Amino acid sequence: MTDIRTFIEGLPKTELHLHIEGSFEPELMFEIAKRNNIEIPFSSVEDLKKAYSFNNLQEFLDIYYQGANVLITEQDFYDLTWAYLTKVHEQNVVHIEIFFDPQTHTDRGISFDTVIKGIKRALEDGEKQYGITYILIMSFLRHLDETSAFNTLEQAMPYKDWIKAVGLDSSEVGNPPSKFERVFAKAREEGFLTVAHAGEEGPAEYIWEALNLLQVVRNDHGNRCMDDEKLVEHLVEIQMPLTLCPLSNLELKVVRDLRDHPIAKMMDRGLLVTVNSDDPAYFGGYMNENYLGIAEALDLSKEQITQLAKNGFTASWLPEEEKTRRIREIETYYQNN
Ligand code: ADE
Ligand code: ZN
Repeated sequence: MTDIRTFIEGLPKTELHLHIEGSFEPELMFEIAKRNNIEIPFSSVEDLKKAYSFNNLQEFLDIYYQGANVLITEQDFYDLTWAYLTKVHEQNVVHIEIFFDPQTHTDRGISFDTVIKGIKRALEDGEKQYGITYILIMSFLRHLDETSAFNTLEQAMPYKDWIKAVGLDSSEVGNPPSKFERVFAKAREEGFLTVAHAGEEGPAEYIWEALNLLQVVRNDHGNRCMDDEKLVEHLVEIQMPLTLCPLSNLELKVVRDLRDHPIAKMMDRGLLVTVNSDDPAYFGGYMNENYLGIAEALDLSKEQITQLAKNGFTASWLPEEEKTRRIREIETYYQNN
């Protein structure tokens, strides 16, 4: 019998909720800042890491956008993405569906092409060298206005083949999904799938809006659905995937302690919940650390951990036969470990 840590490390995993800008490790940030001649308002990596202490989502976002400021060239975006792929490959992550936030960069004069070409080239190399399959999701910043989102959608048109879905992130409270109803309608018309962050800090009502107004096929976070019994029943019935991010929830004070994390209760209710890292460079852990964190805090069994890993594939947009193959692989792994 393998111990829980080794069991988690060996499991084939998906990552369905990851902001590539949130994987920007301080060491790489300093290296890229230096080659681009950009000042970081921190004297060292240690000094910067000390600033990674947040009371809420907004305090984190302020630092996260500041960090992204040093990304200028296509090579910078390549290096950022490559570092993430190398890391998750070591953790036996085999399939990723990741966000990028174009407006974070286009708003400071970096072209959409530069951003997406750097990220895409690294993803292609990751598939070749590590065998990691991938899907790219373009996320709109909800604190910006509808016009900016429409402009971003327009810029994405030449890259339709590279982007499977659009998402919605950034400051949730006060920026409900309804603000982007028309942009999402246009995106769907153009053939994109839709997802949205809803019910992280915002109320259960935002999850209803994401479902009914944005017609999401997956909901990012969604912890707050537990406040609304009717919503839970509905999410169970339609088996709507929820991409939970335990260490993110802890660091952004969505939960006070990992022992209070709702993931086990949600699983017991029959919700299709998955484990993800969100912004691993800022929240102290990639996939294995997220799994291990909840496994230890909630005393999860290997069976429950196995179910979470299977859910990751079920909730992914891999072809059905690939999902089935991976789920069987996980079942065999569980039997043998
Ligand atoms: N952007 C990056 N991480 C985010 C999160 N956890 N919530 C909303 N927007 C984000
Ligand atoms: Zn997120």
